[in-house]
Amino acid sequence: MKAIQYKAFGKSEVIEVVEIPKPEIKNENDVLIQVMAASVNPLDIKLRNGNMQQIRPINLPFVPGADVAGIVVATGEKVTQFKAGDQVIAVSSIGGYAEYALAKESHVVLKPTSATFEEATSLVVNIGTAQAVLFNEGKLAKGQKVLIQGAAGATGATMVQMAKNGGAYVIATASGQGIALVKSLGADEVIDYKSQDITLLAKDVDLVADCAGGESQNKLFEVLRLGGKLVSIVTPPSTELAEKYQVDARFISSNISANSLTAGLVLVSEGKLRPIVAKTFRLEEAAQAQDFVSAGGVNGKVVLAVSALQ
Ligand SMILES: NC(=O)c1ccc[n+]([C@@H]2O[C@H](COP(=O)([O-])OP(=O)(O)OC[C@H]3O[C@@H](n4cnc5c(N)ncnc54)[C@H](OP(=O)(O)O)[C@@H]3O)[C@@H](O)[C@H]2O)c1
Repeated sequence: MKAIQYKAFGKSEVIEVVEIPKPEIKNENDVLIQVMAASVNPLDIKLRNGNMQQIRPINLPFVPGADVAGIVVATGEKVTQFKAGDQVIAVSSIGGYAEYALAKESHVVLKPTSATFEEATSLVVNIGTAQAVLFNEGKLAKGQKVLIQGAAGATGATMVQMAKNGGAYVIATASGQGIALVKSLGADEVIDYKSQDITLLAKDVDLVADCAGGESQNKLFEVLRLGGKLVSIVTPPSTELAEKYQVDARFISSNISANSLTAGLVLVSEGKLRPIVAKTFRLEEAAQAQDFVSAGGVNGKVVLAVSALQ
């Protein structure tokens, strides 16, 4: 099968289009999926650069790609919920930038019928992460105030919609065309993080969802109420600042399975959560797709169209 692979860490030049054996069902709970579309996540770029080797090591050669949308072609003996021909989305256990990928049954769900394969793959990490940050860790409740940092990005745009649907008051930070996007998604207030000072415009926030990390994170402590929460998916927050502002601040790594997608997918089926695909590249253009994400300013998810969409 055709796949994307790299044999050394580095810039996108290390990415090759290769022919490798199609994965085979090895475990009784495996689902083999013909990939129609795969997501390009910032994590794929961090792994390729070699930046994650200390905390999330990978072995080379490596086929990137964590989440896919496609069609089931075979199932392990103990798989009960899926059969060949089902259209699904999945967190794959073998690289998703390929014509076929394996996933465990517990990490597969039926594709929402309203979504194309490209839209559907974009939902997996976005919904799984939004669910983890807002509700599992953040305990966001109806009527509470949430500030979403990086709200026009792939994950942030889904968080805005899930928080609004949860009855929260949403303050979003964005820049450029992202400002109009997050307004259209229902944000109650939008702060242009490039020209406005967030600490002057937001206060008494119950939960900050940080999708940008880095130095910009330090200012986020100032907008929280006493006892509020800061949950970052990018950078572990300062324990000193958490003590100083008397807030609960933590980094989380979303551990996405089928269960974590349930609530968000109900919203998709009800037309209350819109998948946002920023741009689609062909599988063979994976290097360009990763560079497009690295360049920033992308609103929504970048996806690779694989098999049937070429
Ligand atoms: N821990 C986890 O489980 C987990 C899960 C998913 C994602 N992540 C990580 O979370 C991050 C976001 O992922 P994503 O897919 O949403 O990426 P993305 O689409 O690139 O979104 C990042 C957003 O952050 C904004 N941003 C950048 N600098 C900012 C600043 N100083 N202040 C406010 N906003 C800023 C960007 O806005 P502009 O484009 O306008 O600059 C962009 O909209 C990535 O680092 C990713 O690896 C972690």
